[in-house]
Amino acid sequence: MKALIEPAARIKGRLVAPADKSISHRAAILAAMADEPVLVTNYLEAADTLSTLAAIEQLGALVERRTDGVMIRGVGLRNAAVPKGAIDVGNAGTLIRLLPGWLAGQDGSSFELDGDDSIRRRPIDRVAEPLELMGAEIDATKARFAPFTIHGARLHGIEYTLPVASAQVKSCVALAALLAEGETTIVEPDASRDHTERMLAKAGVKISRDGSDLTIFPTDELTLPDRIDIPSDPSSAAFAIAAAVLVPGSRLLVEGCSVNWTRSGFIEIAQRMGAVIITDLEPRPEGSEISHDEPVSDIDVTAGPLKPATVTAGEVPLAVDELPLIALMACFAEGETRIEGAAELRLKESDRIASVVTALNDLGAEVEATDDGLIVNGHGSLRGGRVDAGGDHRIAMLGAVAGLASQEGVEVDGIEAAAVSYPNFLDDIAALR
Ligand code: S3P
Repeated sequence: MKALIEPAARIKGRLVAPADKSISHRAAILAAMADEPVLVTNYLEAADTLSTLAAIEQLGALVERRTDGVMIRGVGLRNAAVPKGAIDVGNAGTLIRLLPGWLAGQDGSSFELDGDDSIRRRPIDRVAEPLELMGAEIDATKARFAPFTIHGARLHGIEYTLPVASAQVKSCVALAALLAEGETTIVEPDASRDHTERMLAKAGVKISRDGSDLTIFPTDELTLPDRIDIPSDPSSAAFAIAAAVLVPGSRLLVEGCSVNWTRSGFIEIAQRMGAVIITDLEPRPEGSEISHDEPVSDIDVTAGPLKPATVTAGEVPLAVDELPLIALMACFAEGETRIEGAAELRLKESDRIASVVTALNDLGAEVEATDDGLIVNGHGSLRGGRVDAGGDHRIAMLGAVAGLASQEGVEVDGIEAAAVSYPNFLDDIAALR
């Protein structure tokens, strides 16, 4: 499906962004692993997180859609049912990386996981390696791709240094650790989103942090609160925020959005570029304590001129899904913006280094790929043209935001991909013009 996004005179109004995708996935998976029912309110009704509800149903959880939320009745930690066929994760990278952590601990049971063409191109060896070290066995296509089968086993705890800062891999190992014998320590090269840690701490799991080391102790039972409220997704809000920063005369209020410090890299980088964004970001914790709750705040955005910036490796995991938007914003600054240490972008729903270069250059920008990032030479404006989403939801929405801020508008081919994380994206954007 094509969408023509004309330049906007301004972006104005209030936005409640959709529910957080990462937290929705985790709430559903952990609720499936619990014994007592959990009501998840404001669950994200998007393709990725609907795949998660379908997956946990295949594993024996009962999922009831109610007007006040999604009621999930789990099967308990060790009682996942073996589905008849493969579990279909659709396009959801988080699902295909987190679920194996739980399934690896189902001693004596085997589970097949598969997904769409994009999922079949994304490596899963990054989760297979630690799970095999813990005692599970994984048969993957060409040793590293879906479809693959997990043979559950009696797991044992390990000390594992993540080769890359990945919240998905960290979370997978953390879930397996719950079912293992002995404690598990995960060493993170850089901080990444911490929703799993928060939710496990809240569920009564013994979990502690010492600098970059995260230690998780096994448990017999998850005691989640009987209700989990999902806040708005800062990665989805970022599209409207970028549009409001870029379109002169704009003023946007994003209401009640997650400002978890492990997700606020985009706002911090944008502020460094000169963007006028007023909000109450959660401060980075100084001690080793693990927060239980997810902080929220309003985010007040006013359009204004931008300057170039350098994004370094340590910031990448805190803004990983928003880096395409940073590249777009850099086109409107004068001079060179560099994004470094972001090789992970090549393993997302598309090779996002390649797809950002193609998309923005087709619109008249000057963007260059490096092995592990991007160099943008900004000229203060963007012409417009045509963007092919290539099935990647964030590239589809990037093209639309570029259209709003461009001189001539942008035709986005494949805009329907936005439904993976943000089904009402076009309506929300239209309401802000
Ligand atoms: C996610 C973590 C990130 C992110 C993805 C969602 C999560 O991936 O890109 O969209 O929910 O844990 P990595 O942690 O693998 O970088």
